[in-house]
Amino acid sequence: MTAPTTAPTTAPTSIGSEPGSGSGSGQLTVGVVGLGYLGAVHAACMADLGHRVIGYDVDAAKVEALREARAPFFEPGLEDLLARTHGEGLAFTTDVSDLQGADVVFVCVGTPQRPGELAADTQYVTAAVQALAQVLPGTAVIVGKSTVPVGTAADLAQTLSATDLEVAWNPEFLREGHAVADTLTPDRLVFGVVSTRAETLLRRVYARAIATGTPVIVTDRPTAELVKVAANAFLATKISFINAIAEVCDAAGADVTTLADAIGHDDRIGRKFLGAGLGFGGGCLPKDIRAFTARATELGAGQAVGFLTEVDAINLRRRAKVVELARAAVGGDLAGARVAVLGAAFKPLSDDVRDSPALDVAARLRAEGAHVTVTDPAAVDNARRQHPELDYAPTAQQASAGADVVLLLTEWEEYRSIDPAALAAVVRHPRVIDARNALDAQRWAAAGWDHRGLGRPSPAATATGAASPVHAAAA
Ligand code: UGA
Repeated sequence: MTAPTTAPTTAPTSIGSEPGSGSGSGQLTVGVVGLGYLGAVHAACMADLGHRVIGYDVDAAKVEALREARAPFFEPGLEDLLARTHGEGLAFTTDVSDLQGADVVFVCVGTPQRPGELAADTQYVTAAVQALAQVLPGTAVIVGKSTVPVGTAADLAQTLSATDLEVAWNPEFLREGHAVADTLTPDRLVFGVVSTRAETLLRRVYARAIATGTPVIVTDRPTAELVKVAANAFLATKISFINAIAEVCDAAGADVTTLADAIGHDDRIGRKFLGAGLGFGGGCLPKDIRAFTARATELGAGQAVGFLTEVDAINLRRRAKVVELARAAVGGDLAGARVAVLGAAFKPLSDDVRDSPALDVAARLRAEGAHVTVTDPAAVDNARRQHPELDYAPTAQQASAGADVVLLLTEWEEYRSIDPAALAAVVRHPRVIDARNALDAQRWAAAGWDHRGLGRPSPAATATGAASPVHAAAA
């Protein structure tokens, strides 16, 4: 956590210069370490809750943007929140010693997958805690929000045993694209603590949400750490479950979207996260299920989560399936084919391309010799940095000009509502692969498109009754 060479151009406001300055009132002095998708939103939301906040990051450009109330990434509502809290007790710094007056410091740094391994890399969490130990008064509580292998909090606490500092864990459940609402009005709060001191402090931090009835689960630190990974593992499993069923639907000529609607009516199952298609990506679910597998194995419980290896495999098969469909659509050879890719972000309402299924598919098509033009309402700059070999266009119409096949890979609302007749006018061949099952298949077919979803028969096959291999075999 060394500070970058660039010095802050604006001194942080004198927030929290008195250690423990928030004690006794509703307002606390809150530090936030790491100003990425999680930390920047958390800092702004803490200020909105009425606390004095100082956000710290080693990235001077990010800090500078936040100081000017500019969001360093795409997150709906964040800029409004920054504007609202600007000068109202929200400050940003690249100097960790500016956190010295904090009552509580949230650690929001990344825990990426270690290169070549399944396990998470916790070095940034460790470095953050070590840096904080140098500057915080003993009265402060360090609260981890990052997703970590179970046991991390206890290990960190051990390194602080010579101090009075305490470590608690308060996992984050926010979704990118909905991060502000998820932070201000969470559906639950989990406090992993070893003392009432940390619990009391966390109850003061989140007093507004608690007053409106948000459930609070107070538990030990390992349970809190595991709650987070278990939640993400469950969500990933639910998505891969429906994608596995989609594979069977494809083989049987059945429709996975109707099936998901039908089973989703059972409230024990629920329709959410049964969206079959290209599968999950992003900076969380893929690496979290792998890190969970690695940690459980270290603990001798690897067999218990062996199914997560299959969850991962089902998910990755979706990408290969879409490439296969694209290849088949252009006659078996992608070399020289023109492919339009709608969507680069790992999901709509985000500019995040970390482990993006859409971008992965686009890169695979390019590797097979296709001319791939990608468009996305928010993620083109990030995508271009990761994949400069791809072509990019500002709109779906421009990306699709002369295309042999159009792939919908991220279901942004503006792609869902495309006029299929207008798009048909610019392509070379009206073929669409709807890898998120987000388009109205009948409408696209009526506009002359050869529409192909995932785990569902094409409208043409349904119309001729040729959809089902089961029926075909019986005939
Ligand atoms: C996920 C969790 O949903 C959050 O609760 C958690 O806090 C966060 O990870 C985290 O660990 O920080 P997020 O990565 O923002 O949030 O995205 P999700 O909305 O969970 O979507 C993940 C992926 O699953 C996306 O690629 C999405 O396209 C895919 N997905 C989602 C499907 O393929 N089908 C679905 O039905 C739903």
